[in-house]
Amino acid sequence: MSKSMRVAVADITTLTVDAIVNAANTSLLGGGGVDGAIHRAAGPELLAECRTLGGCATGDAKLTKGYRLPAKWVIHTPGPVWRDGAHGEPELLAGCYQRSLELAAEKGAKSIAFPCISTGIYGYPAENAAKIAVATVREALNRLPAPPEVVFCCFSQKNAEIYDKILNKG
Ligand code: APR
Repeated sequence: MSKSMRVAVADITTLTVDAIVNAANTSLLGGGGVDGAIHRAAGPELLAECRTLGGCATGDAKLTKGYRLPAKWVIHTPGPVWRDGAHGEPELLAGCYQRSLELAAEKGAKSIAFPCISTGIYGYPAENAAKIAVATVREALNRLPAPPEVVFCCFSQKNAEIYDKILNKG
């Protein structure tokens, strides 16, 4: 397992990392799933800041403060809705990880936690998504001048086992 990537089973809002990534929607005005959990934990100032951002394109990312969260920053990234894998979903999902790491690096974040973007309400198959997540993060960590520690924050043991298998395959 690469030293700069690890897997955890946790509620991402509890992690004491510099930045947590939010699986948002393009409005950035909150939602269910991890989006709802992050907004609940961060408090109303998060939504107030999100309102100033003018939304975010799928596969892009925007950064806000973390407010009442332990994390300093929240990086909001709308993942693709899964259709059949032939409508640009893999490239858009890779963009979520890519852009989130770029924004984290710009801030000098030393650690960042990702949820399993798009694999909940957006229906992306968990294994396909995990492969894209690990490959994209691994490539970015090799390229970034000061790469952050990366935590793949799973919300189930099942998802964590998917990541463990991929990470330990090397
Ligand atoms: N901590 C970590 N992971 C979580 C948490 C949490 N507190 N809550 C949910 N998850 C996990 C889900 O189990 C899933 O594995 O996050 C992953 C992403 O699922 P969703 O939150 O449903 O996100 P996504 O599939 O990307 O759909 C995004 O859902 O909430 C709305 O506004 C959001 O419209 C957007 C859509």
